[in-house]
Amino acid sequence: MAENNPFPGENNTGHFWDDNLRELENPPPRWWMIALWASLIWFIAYGVIYPMWPTLSDYSKGVTGWTQMQEYSAGIAEVEAIRAQYEEKITGMSAAQILADPDLTTYTKASARVLFGDKCAACHGSGGQGNVDFPVLADDDWLYGGNIETIVESITNGRQGVMTAHAAILQPDEVDALANYVVALSEGKQDPAGQALFTQKGCVACHGMDGKGMQMLGSANLTDAIWRFEPGGVESAKYTIQYGVNDPSNPMTREAVMPSFQALLSEDEIKKLAVLVHSLGGGQ
Ligand code: HEC
Ligand code: HEC
Repeated sequence: MAENNPFPGENNTGHFWDDNLRELENPPPRWWMIALWASLIWFIAYGVIYPMWPTLSDYSKGVTGWTQMQEYSAGIAEVEAIRAQYEEKITGMSAAQILADPDLTTYTKASARVLFGDKCAACHGSGGQGNVDFPVLADDDWLYGGNIETIVESITNGRQGVMTAHAAILQPDEVDALANYVVALSEGKQDPAGQALFTQKGCVACHGMDGKGMQMLGSANLTDAIWRFEPGGVESAKYTIQYGVNDPSNPMTREAVMPSFQALLSEDEIKKLAVLVHSLGGGQ
């Protein structure tokens, strides 16, 4: 073959195509060889250091004894250690003291979120935005009060506002007049005749002269446009006035029960939830 090599003296292999395309015997570039050997060394070293080679019944453990599971457990232990510091602090503190510590508050809010989703969201919505006939927690309007102690109390003991049904004591036109009066009140309008009836029929006993409600009783503030019972407005107010709220003597009464969580949650869990709820709405 060499004698009819058209490129004598060249380091070709003697394979030609199309007259002048030919295979040469050049060594691969140096950088390529270095990379090849380096990766081979890497491969063997990896197999020595880390678990890699299958054996008949097991696998090689590597000289360091490293396992992914161990690394995972160590990571978890690290997180637990950080959590434990916070949890220990929380146990010894009141909810108000937790709130005074921004770092602890951040931790507490994060750790209470899942609990809120499990225990509270069904009624109050996942972000405390409320549901039909379940109060919004993520605003500044509170039935019972938005300071931290009151929130703890609401969660611990539950709440059940009571308004007596007035269907038997009021004439239909009085129900009408009162419903229109409270709706006007919520729109910022004053009406002396309505105010007189409101006073005369005893509404003031629970809602106050000004209709702003009393947090001790959880009687809704009637002067804001935030309605506790959907859809709000005159018809809704008429219903509440006639049948009341949680009045056991009236089968048509509105239900408004916040269950007690004393037996269902630990004291720490209640504190955490109170801090979270406070951060959603806050205020008084
Ligand atoms: C079964 C439904 C239900 C569940 C579950 C529930 N709540 Fe309530 N919650 C209510 C109702 C209804 C009220 C209003 C009671 C009333 O009108 O008297 C309320 C009121 C409250 C209040 C008082 C709000 C105010 O304006 O003063 C707070 C705070 C509160 N809930 C927090 C929670 C937290 C935290 C959880 C979870 C641990 C929770 N609730 C679970 C139904 C529920
Ligand atoms: C025994 C106390 C009590 C009396 C008396 C009372 N209320 Fe109420 N009322 C309440 C409470 C408590 C609530 C809120 C219930 C809840 O959210 O659990 C309420 C709620 C309401 C609501 C619903 C507000 C909303 O945001 O949806 C209206 C309207 C209302 N009352 C009007 C009246 C009128 C008018 C009278 C007089 C005829 C009256 N109430 C008498 C305790 C009372």
